Amino acid sequence: MPSTMNNIAKQGDHGAAMMPVIQGVGRAAIEIAAVLRGAVFRGALGGAGSENVQGEQQQVLDVLSDEIFLEEMRSTGFICAVGSEEQEELLVIEEYTSADYLVLVDPLDGSSNLDVDGPVGTIFSVVKRKTANSERPHVSDTLQNGREVIAAGYVLYGPSLMLVCSVGEGVHGYTYNPNNARFEVSHPDMIVPETGGYYSVNESNKDAWADDMGNKLDGMKEKTGLGMRYVGAMVADMHRTILKGGVFLYPADDKNTTGKLRLLYEAIPMAFIMEHAGGKAMSSDGIAILDLEPEALHQRVPVYLGSETNVDALLG
Ligand code: AHG
Ligand code: MN
Ligand code: MN
Repeated sequence: MPSTMNNIAKQGDHGAAMMPVIQGVGRAAIEIAAVLRGAVFRGALGGAGSENVQGEQQQVLDVLSDEIFLEEMRSTGFICAVGSEEQEELLVIEEYTSADYLVLVDPLDGSSNLDVDGPVGTIFSVVKRKTANSERPHVSDTLQNGREVIAAGYVLYGPSLMLVCSVGEGVHGYTYNPNNARFEVSHPDMIVPETGGYYSVNESNKDAWADDMGNKLDGMKEKTGLGMRYVGAMVADMHRTILKGGVFLYPADDKNTTGKLRLLYEAIPMAFIMEHAGGKAMSSDGIAILDLEPEALHQRVPVYLGSETNVDALLG
């Protein structure tokens, strides 16, 4: 009998409480994967003709994934509000305004890969509200330090459908088995290798990087001899970094002066996973991503995630 996602309920202080939420993420993942597979036949590839709050062109599949994810969070009954990359404001779930938890989500990460059938993902984290349950959830409930995160993870839509998550006790990977329509434990206790792997970065921005990062990267390459891989979808690049080791970075540059990746629904969930897998997750100025104090729902930060030695070589 294969071990399924039910083992989450047995993990640590928050496992049982998070089980329905992670199951909801699993259902959303299955639905989003089906939509992605059939997108070309529905004419659902390409732009939605709208922009998100960050001025980025939304793809039809960004919007559909956001709707699916929100609906599955609503159906759990445990989520009072969702902060999404695709929604300017915090989205309050009117039926459950007194529920305990909020979810932050990047419903479709790496969506520029869609036109070339490349991997994409979903990134999420769960926090407990700070406002009283009798009050309406407020955006301030989302602005919590990463050390307060209760659960986080990602879905990878690749050759297989994977959900990797942590409820604070280890990082475990589940692969969807189409033969029984269940997520089964395939990667228990994921630990980032201390050496080896790859460096992963959009090196075409090198001349524009802040903090002398071009020279620091060259130094690290010389010292370690690491090869390079870059998918351009954070989920896929992080998943490889966790399994193989190395470092994934998106520094600040002339165009993205505070970095490109979003703190609450990209950097913090991935930092939570990286630290729980034994790796290191830093922003610039030697501050761990999980120690940053969020100021805004769609705030951006520089990120350096991976094997400790490689992250230190870049930031030391
Ligand atoms: P999203 O599709 O959610 O906007 O995220 C895209 C992000 C991330 O997935 C990836 O690491 C990065 O953008 C790639 O950026 P570049 O194309 O600038 O390399
Ligand atoms: Mn993203
Ligand atoms: Mn996205």
